Amino acid sequence: MQVDTLILGAGAAGLMAAAHTGGRVLVVDHARAPGEKIRISGGGRCNFTNMHTSAANFISRNPHFCKSALKRYTQWDFLDLVAQHGIAWHEKTLGQLFCDGSAKEIVAMLLAEMKTAGADLWLQTKVAQVAPMATGFAVTVEREGRQIVVQAANLVVATGGKSIPKMGATGLAYDLARQFGHALTETRPALVPLTFQPDRFAPLAGVALPVHAGCHDTRFAEAMLFTHRGLSGPAILQISSYWAEGDRISVNLMPDADPYEVLRAQRQASGRRQLGTVLAQMLPSRLADHLTADWGLTGNLADQSDAKLKALAGKLTGWELLPTGSEGYRTAEVTLGGVDTDGLSSQSMMSKTVPGLYFIGEAVDVTGWLGGYNFQWAWSSGVAAGRDIAARG
Ligand code: FDA
Repeated sequence: MQVDTLILGAGAAGLMAAAHTGGRVLVVDHARAPGEKIRISGGGRCNFTNMHTSAANFISRNPHFCKSALKRYTQWDFLDLVAQHGIAWHEKTLGQLFCDGSAKEIVAMLLAEMKTAGADLWLQTKVAQVAPMATGFAVTVEREGRQIVVQAANLVVATGGKSIPKMGATGLAYDLARQFGHALTETRPALVPLTFQPDRFAPLAGVALPVHAGCHDTRFAEAMLFTHRGLSGPAILQISSYWAEGDRISVNLMPDADPYEVLRAQRQASGRRQLGTVLAQMLPSRLADHLTADWGLTGNLADQSDAKLKALAGKLTGWELLPTGSEGYRTAEVTLGGVDTDGLSSQSMMSKTVPGLYFIGEAVDVTGWLGGYNFQWAWSSGVAAGRDIAARG
């Protein structure tokens, strides 16, 4: 079997590339359905892009690498496509755009675009072997109990990262990168809940509040959620991409107030109240009770000196925590790291050393923040590869 372009992976990036490539294109995927992560994303509504997308929202060893693709196919380009297909959408918060209806509309849109471009899709197809030829690639796939060798001038690797193995994530992209002599950056679970000593926060499970969460020099102002295993919510997922084992995180529990001033004013107004009671007016009561016990807060407000109130305010704005780990690839939304961008053209995603070999989407060492950025990277890098193949003929 001969095609011009073989795309491995029918996820966000692979489907988008298939819609922009032209010529004889075949997409193969071992899953039963295409775009499964799109379907479950954003609570079933798919946070398909972010209005504020720029290179600043991505983590990569080379922070400039993503700029070219993001500029050539922007969030506004994707929004035009969504509008052409009559998909209703809304901004939820912080520029995050979601479908009004269902994420399935985005999958259907990509399949329709791919069909218009004349690409074929083989599902439940395993990739057994990839071999280089004098020009192009010979890829052995297993489909319906048969082995088929597909010869292709171009090979686009769009098999994503390692997150959520239950959904079919594999390390195929990394294996192929190694096979063809490409370097990899360290891969880690990202956009993932952080875990703590067993039961440390279990009594607080379900408590949520707006915070500023920080690690090293990066901080995010979003909501934090206590879970049975530790901490989650957007602020923690965001900061998890900057966290590594042994790092502390810092949480400002009162980002919208100056707790020292609040405590001083309360002492002036009603100094006979217990510290714990006052804290319960400033924070969710279960959290206030926990902190009162954990920090050994006793006595009336009136008993507290300015220095003591200042120290307490410091703890509230800079609660230092040492996570024991993360929930790992089982629940991580993305994989940090991947195929080193040094080996790829930032304009086309093509290998600098193996003509016709492309890596796109999450497989590449470009990881977006939470908020629609990872899909925008999948769209932009997919279009970059597709257009380059079309231009090379
Ligand atoms: P993707 O993982 O989408 O596709 C890879 C494809 O390759 C899959 O179809 C897989 O079956 C196939 N494959 C893998 N190994 C293979 C093998 N060995 N042989 C054959 N096929 C193979 N992002 C965002 O911007 N907004 C959001 O709302 C969300 N929400 C979200 C929720 C959840 C629960 C998760 C897990 C992730 C998100 N994300 C997200 C992240 C987003 O889903 C992710 O970044 C993109 O799907 C990456 O697109 P890719 O096409 O690179 O990989």
